[in-house]
Amino acid sequence: MIKVRFGIIGTGRISDWVLKGAVLDPRFEAASVCSRSRENAESFAAGHGIPKIFTDVEEMASDPEIDAIYIGTPNHTHHDLAIRCMSHGKHVMCEKPLASNAIEVEEMIAAAKSNNVLLMEAMISTLSPNFRMVQNRLKTLGTVRNYSGVFCQYSSKYGLLKRILAGEDHSPVPSSFNPDRSGGALMDIGIYPIYPMVTLFGQPKSVKADVLTIGVPTSQGTSPIDLQGSVLFEYDGMTANAVYSKIADSRLRTEISCEGGILSLDQIHITRQVEFIPHGAPTSGRSNGPLKEDITVPCDPDEYLCEFKEFIDVLENGRLESENNSLGNSLAVAEVMDEIRRQAGVVFPSDRY
Ligand SMILES: NC(=O)c1ccc[n+]([C@@H]2O[C@H](COP(=O)([O-])OP(=O)(O)OC[C@H]3O[C@@H](n4cnc5c(N)ncnc54)[C@H](OP(=O)(O)O)[C@@H]3O)[C@@H](O)[C@H]2O)c1
Repeated sequence: MIKVRFGIIGTGRISDWVLKGAVLDPRFEAASVCSRSRENAESFAAGHGIPKIFTDVEEMASDPEIDAIYIGTPNHTHHDLAIRCMSHGKHVMCEKPLASNAIEVEEMIAAAKSNNVLLMEAMISTLSPNFRMVQNRLKTLGTVRNYSGVFCQYSSKYGLLKRILAGEDHSPVPSSFNPDRSGGALMDIGIYPIYPMVTLFGQPKSVKADVLTIGVPTSQGTSPIDLQGSVLFEYDGMTANAVYSKIADSRLRTEISCEGGILSLDQIHITRQVEFIPHGAPTSGRSNGPLKEDITVPCDPDEYLCEFKEFIDVLENGRLESENNSLGNSLAVAEVMDEIRRQAGVVFPSDRY
């Protein structure tokens, strides 16, 4: 059994969450943590039993006692941090979205290839046991005719954003609503229905986006940021759409409709329950036909375990790329998201096109 010694960059909520899953893989070792503040690093290290701390990414990346680095920082920092780590020969697992835009993703892919290291986007949706089951089941259901992916979650930071916009709070705009930090509903939430769609069906031929934006204070003055969106995607022989929001909740299920029946997922970001509704299932009490089936498979003991299991499996098998969270999928998703932002008029300082 291999042991992979991880350094963790960023001591926010997401690093805490993923670590709780990572430690369930016996091949994972939390070797060090890096924070911009010594105090945060010390308290995070104490809370997770991590033996070594850094306050300088360059020092962590050049530590020979680390094999891989997990990046849990705001989106606009992913590109530079990941390239720095990879240039020291470290494998990198980087939070979603992999970068601010497709150009940055391309540069990160080039860095992974030239340094011969694994780069994987920490996109949980496509690695969860129930998504993998759906992926296999799809092969038996004939031609796919529609994908409808939904993730709408009223953000815990939306109240703060409203107070900032009303001039009642002078805090900085939270990362997930902040163009300077490559935030917004698409980057934060919309990616969840889109990444699985690209993994299953490839990159769409075209994109038509309807996006709700609002102006927020930024380094450029005031810039638009997206709050929710509804997007149509063009594929041969099938239709597809994604709906996402940070300002309203939804309990709509994600559905994949095939000629042989429907796969209905309770939620796409982390699928916990799946129903199969066969073709011909009754739609009223007066008709007969095959009944829907619960085809859920058991979930992992922690939702984030699957990301680390995949990352370490890839390394253990002598490969440098995940199949579902491949470099090609990450790039295709970034291209789709660039086009949605272009149509919505949402621009980040990191954009160089
Ligand atoms: N997979 C999931 O379920 C999930 C859920 C939520 C978020 N995310 C992703 O996780 C990432 C972080 O999101 P978040 O909302 O946790 O962000 P955040 O709270 O703004 O930042 C997370 C941590 O990054 C470090 N950081 C903050 N600003 C930085 C900067 N300018 N340069 C370098 N480091 C900085 C800080 O740690 P230090 O103070 O220690 O430096 C901070 O605690 C995003 O990419 C987001 O999309 C993923």
